[in-house]
Amino acid sequence: MDSVIYLDHAATSWPKPPEVLEAMKKAMDEAAANPGRGSHRMAVNASRVLYNTRRTLSTLFHVKNPNDIVLTGNTTEALNLAIKGYLTEGDHVIATMIEHNSVRRPLEYLKRTRGIHVDYIPVRAEGQLDLKEVEKAFNPKTKLVVCSHSSNLLGSILPIEEIGELAARHGAVLLVDAAQSAGMLPIDVENMNVGMLAFPGHKGLLGPQGTGGLYISPNVELEPLMHGGTGSQSEAVEQPTVRPDRYEAGTPNTIGFAGLQAGVKKVLEWTPDHIYQHEWELTQRMMEGLSSVKGIKILGPGLGEARTGIVSFVVEQRDASEMAFKLDREYGIAVRAGFHCTPLAHMAAGTENTGAVRASVGLWTSREDVDIMVEAMAKIQA
Ligand code: ALA
Repeated sequence: MDSVIYLDHAATSWPKPPEVLEAMKKAMDEAAANPGRGSHRMAVNASRVLYNTRRTLSTLFHVKNPNDIVLTGNTTEALNLAIKGYLTEGDHVIATMIEHNSVRRPLEYLKRTRGIHVDYIPVRAEGQLDLKEVEKAFNPKTKLVVCSHSSNLLGSILPIEEIGELAARHGAVLLVDAAQSAGMLPIDVENMNVGMLAFPGHKGLLGPQGTGGLYISPNVELEPLMHGGTGSQSEAVEQPTVRPDRYEAGTPNTIGFAGLQAGVKKVLEWTPDHIYQHEWELTQRMMEGLSSVKGIKILGPGLGEARTGIVSFVVEQRDASEMAFKLDREYGIAVRAGFHCTPLAHMAAGTENTGAVRASVGLWTSREDVDIMVEAMAKIQA
């Protein structure tokens, strides 16, 4: 696929560095057996792949013990494990209005089935929240604060460190949804008081789809989401207590995690700061360009303010999906349109009835790509 201008990195980054593909090919050749199950060389190689992936992720997120990182199929699985594994009858949770459905739906499910209580803290139209509102929401039953690091609609960045401090002060655990920040924003789980960190492998960490993970602080105990074979303590009826086995039942995506490790190595080499800066400059260019096109209203933080690589916008009197379709079919530009699995953020932005077009940049996006996108929108609106 060589004739596409790919502006859908917030959903899945593409293309992947060649090292990712090479690592996956090598793993398929040399480590494609079952990790932790059997002592033959290929099985041992597979275990090594998983351990090295955990170790590389630990370096990125400043995790002391790599075994506190559970490898999952995606962020959604990680969030389900965190939320359903941690909350019990009657617990109170603080979340925000920028949360994705992968946070909101598990929470709403537990409202029905375990009688938990949830407060969604309002955010301003551009996606920022008032820390005083967060502080006010705590009560003695608050056990968890769940917070998206960056909105997948607005690109706004939440002050995780400050929220972590508030959570710690009130004896609650902070769960961060890093779907739009892992690899683009620095994350230090120790310094930020992050009790759990859910992250995707296939976005900013440059790995393949079907990879993700959850960091679980040694101070946090979860009930497993899945029960089954782990290759360890096979005689026991219960799920083993040892990490990561407790939370990783079944044969994992070893080949995918080999690719993820290679992706994270590239991120460490380029550094999240550098990647953020590259993407930020492109968003500013796109915002400047789009703001001169008739009928376009850009969502999220203003020009010059911090944001991840997302520029969402609405086009007066035009359907967002129609815009995305035209961009793809007539200009070869891939964007995402609609409600982006985040209806609450759309409510905050005032776009709950229209949806929006979302263009999201990545490591390989160039200024020319951005200019072509802006020109395409100008032609559509001419
Ligand atoms: N959550 C991803 C997105 O925002 C898939 O597009």
